[in-house]
Amino acid sequence: MNVLVVGGAGYIGSHCVRQLQAAGHRPVVLDNLVFGHRAAVAPDIPFYDGDLGDPDTVGQILIEEKIDLVMHFAAFAYVGESVTDPLKYYFNNVVATLRLLETMLSEGVTKFVFSSTCATFGIPERMPITEDLPQAPINPYGQTKLDIENALKALAHAHGLSFAAFRYFNAAGAAEDATIGEAHDPESHLIPLAIDAATGRRPPLKVFGQDYPTPDGTCLRDYVHVDDLSRAHIAVFDKLDEPGTGLFYNLGTGTPTSVLEVIEAVEKVSGLKVPYEMAERRAGDPPALYADSAKAKSELGWEIKYQTIEPIVATAWAWHQAHPEGFQE
Ligand SMILES: NC(=O)c1ccc[n+]([C@@H]2O[C@H](COP(=O)([O-])OP(=O)(O)OC[C@H]3O[C@@H](n4cnc5c(N)ncnc54)[C@H](O)[C@@H]3O)[C@@H](O)[C@H]2O)c1
Repeated sequence: MNVLVVGGAGYIGSHCVRQLQAAGHRPVVLDNLVFGHRAAVAPDIPFYDGDLGDPDTVGQILIEEKIDLVMHFAAFAYVGESVTDPLKYYFNNVVATLRLLETMLSEGVTKFVFSSTCATFGIPERMPITEDLPQAPINPYGQTKLDIENALKALAHAHGLSFAAFRYFNAAGAAEDATIGEAHDPESHLIPLAIDAATGRRPPLKVFGQDYPTPDGTCLRDYVHVDDLSRAHIAVFDKLDEPGTGLFYNLGTGTPTSVLEVIEAVEKVSGLKVPYEMAERRAGDPPALYADSAKAKSELGWEIKYQTIEPIVATAWAWHQAHPEGFQE
């Protein structure tokens, strides 16, 4: 299939582009490079530097590249910033996404795969998180993703859009050949921060909260390898043939991992100490968030290659070793 990967120069999108190629599809990338890296996309892949909210650019790509399906990874995703600057998030994550969907429908492209998030659940009433739990986001970031999930349902009903929305837990790791990996700026994710603290590229890691009701007192999260995530996106293609299909899947390993366990994994893999200091809890950090991905496994045949933290960290470490400065462009 010809697949437009919106946000394909970003962390998860660029890994998905690789997996699409490996599966025999033809990816085309649209990214305005506000955060992504041109070098994360191989030169042989058609690349458009543009904004997803620009109907002229998107319309032209859909027609010229004969796009069959759109995957949408492009969003702003800093929870704290979404609280202080919500309009920025509503404009990019909601308004621009609605423009993208409008352009798709006007060009007759009706298959859509969307990056949603476990943040749509807010503080869930039980663990692990199944798809049917109530969604009550506690920050504008999570709300913008839920707004699009709801818009997708309405568009499926009204216009026959077929979509899958994947609610990721904590995307982690890097490509097995260590040629692409995670390089956010600013970086807010635990594994790259822990690796950089170990190598001395960043100050000691801050561990927020040590008195949570968890085995070691630090927060539990669900780290899922970026290539495992990507493979789920491709496995859903066959399910989108029927117009009006709407699918939701939680994607995580289901293995709760504490902050201290991540630190331990980084130390084991790197052979270095991770300097860290304990800090106050952050507002809005639930003690534990982990997925029940039984639905993705049974319906999509999704198989998780990286079930535990250490091999995930090993891929991240290899990427950081090979590219200590991240991408050059
Ligand atoms: N990283 C995670 O752990 C995680 C967890 C849950 C959900 N998600 C979601 O997954 C998606 C991808 O996350 P990521 O970590 O790869 O982020 P990222 O910032 O690395 O990638 C997003 C890409 O989208 C591009 N972009 C942003 N706005 C754009 C616009 N208006 N037009 C064109 N391009 C635009 C950026 O330049 C960037 O390359 C996001 O939607 C995020 O909300 C990520």
